[in-house]
Amino acid sequence: MNKLVKGDCLLELKKIADNSIDLIYLDPPFYTQKKQTLSKKENEKIKKYEFADSWDNIAEYLNYLKERIIECKRILKKSGNIFLHCDRKACHYLKIVMDEVFGINNFRSEIIWSYKRWSNSKKGLLNSHQNIYFYSKTSDFKFNTLYTNYSLTTNLDQILQNRVKDNNGITVYQTDEHGNVVNNYNKKGVPLSDVWNIPYLNPKAKERNGYPTQKPILLLEQIIKIGSDEGDVVLDPFCGSGTTLAAAKMLKRKYIGFDISDDAINLCKERLAGNIVKTSSKLLENGIEKYDNKTKEEQYIINLFGGLPVQRNSGFDAIIPSKDSNKVIAIKFQKNNESLENCIKKINNACKIKGIKNKIIIKSSNSSIKSTINNNDDVIILSSYKELIINLIKR
Ligand SMILES: C[S@@+](CC[C@H](N)C(=O)[O-])C[C@H]1O[C@@H](n2cnc3c(N)ncnc32)[C@H](O)[C@@H]1O
Repeated sequence: MNKLVKGDCLLELKKIADNSIDLIYLDPPFYTQKKQTLSKKENEKIKKYEFADSWDNIAEYLNYLKERIIECKRILKKSGNIFLHCDRKACHYLKIVMDEVFGINNFRSEIIWSYKRWSNSKKGLLNSHQNIYFYSKTSDFKFNTLYTNYSLTTNLDQILQNRVKDNNGITVYQTDEHGNVVNNYNKKGVPLSDVWNIPYLNPKAKERNGYPTQKPILLLEQIIKIGSDEGDVVLDPFCGSGTTLAAAKMLKRKYIGFDISDDAINLCKERLAGNIVKTSSKLLENGIEKYDNKTKEEQYIINLFGGLPVQRNSGFDAIIPSKDSNKVIAIKFQKNNESLENCIKKINNACKIKGIKNKIIIKSSNSSIKSTINNNDDVIILSSYKELIINLIKR
């Protein structure tokens, strides 16, 4: 049943029987009005992948997609779901097209795929999300709820207490015959929301295959899990490098993929035949809190001086940036179990690598390690940190 076909998806969709597909994910060109290109080095040769995304006008683009979306609706089962991926270039128009084809009542969610990006190149707000419209064919659609962890601010005690309705129909916490609260430890977490923080594939990620606008497998896995079950058929009419198909295969779904480009189909074939590489996200596995290792006091001091916290660097905990590189300051907080000698060594090494000249160590107020340090280095060691940093900034 798995199928990979080179061709215009309009023609290929027309060959598929009515009411036969469980889930469709479409990631068409986004109306960027340019050719999408990316190159990858392969056995010392450069392989260039590209696809066209230029249109006479928005009406042409919308008609082109609408024709294909109508076919998608025809082939979806009654319990079927469709996910249309787009971005700010045309999402507002495409929502209307989807409403027209599937009906406003079958609109389920607008999923915001949110990710971090680092760029100073543009005037204005940095784009860091894309939109995925989730519609079902009917109200009798398949849906598997996924759960995420409770947030740090959630009062878990309260969440775990069972609730019941009293004689007046008011919801109250359940108590047993002795008046003790009845807990339910069988909670699964918070149902997944419509904002998904999934990292963008970084240029060096092993999962990267060189195809322009390649989406992460993690994103597709989530879509496939909520909208289908094992053994179901997943179809991607604009499959590109085959991310949907790879995720479907990993999740034991059957898959069908179309793409108009020979290169894309060849890349898909290779990807599906080999071991599928998926970049796991430490951020997702551990939670963002894991990376925030500053105490409240440290965070306060960093904020006080307009510093930027630095994570995962044992050499320093923050920098105070400056346009003049000679004035950048690195700050390290001595940990309770860390000697001052060790602190100095670490900040010196880290600053040497980064070319930072100004170094401050803020001594731990309750360090149990006594130090007989003779600091011949140019590191400033503060116990009364505030005044000294203020003076240093003023210099
Ligand atoms: C945004 S890319 C898909 C990227 C893919 N999701 C991935 O992760 O690699 C869009 C794809 O649509 C293909 N395409 C454009 N017009 C098409 C058409 N009429 N029929 C089938 N594929 C088409 C392009 O060749 C391109 O590979």
